[in-house]
Amino acid sequence: MSGRILRYTLHERLIHWVAGFAFVYLLVSGLAFYSPRLYWLVNPLGGGQTARAWHPWAGVLFTAVCVWMYRIWRGDMAISEQDRAWRKAIGRYVRNQDKDLPPAGRFNAGQKYFFWLMFWGGFLLLASGAVLWFPERIPWSLRSLRYAAVLIHVSAALATIGGFIIHVYMGTAVVRGGFTSIVRGEVTREWARAHHPLWLNEKE
Ligand code: HEM
Repeated sequence: MSGRILRYTLHERLIHWVAGFAFVYLLVSGLAFYSPRLYWLVNPLGGGQTARAWHPWAGVLFTAVCVWMYRIWRGDMAISEQDRAWRKAIGRYVRNQDKDLPPAGRFNAGQKYFFWLMFWGGFLLLASGAVLWFPERIPWSLRSLRYAAVLIHVSAALATIGGFIIHVYMGTAVVRGGFTSIVRGEVTREWARAHHPLWLNEKE
């Protein structure tokens, strides 16, 4: 059978791109605060003070959108036995040899683990970021809380940035047709059969 099928509704695409833009803003402003060598990155964001004021709010937005994604995708993102088999064969996915992989449902195990990384990473970033948002309100006697917040914030940022780089690389350069699906919503049946055969079976 030929033709195209809907992979992402308009609602899902809008939520996704709000998450995408919020994350890129957080990434660029966060890198500027991380190292004086990267401070020039605040220039396109309206300068240091503007970026410092908006960075925490972008974090609130990003976490809220991740919670929204959880609401709409929690069923699709649950890790199954099949995902564990898929995970063992992940090297074939990286080499784009999808036909040699255990069949995936709507999302494959890599996509699910990425989602959970961003979801829990977002929470850790928000919780530790709240401490750094108002440092003057944390008494000096609780300075270990500040140190812990910096450590957690940087570690969670590095983990989510790593996931983000892999996500963008896989979605744009490796899995052809994925990017069109998150922009226009549709994929061909051939694409669905090659990458998400169990999901195609459910749709037919
Ligand atoms: C801004 C750059 C981004 C690009 C270019 C991008 C690209 C894509 C693409 C192409 C897909 C469709 C994959 C498929 O169905 O095969 C997708 C799905 C998805 N994206 Fe993004 N994305 C970006 C940012 C983000 C961010 C920051 C998040 C954080 C939560 C995110 C979370 C997701 C999730 C959960 C899915 C569904 C499952 C998956 O494919 O991993 N994306 N994205």
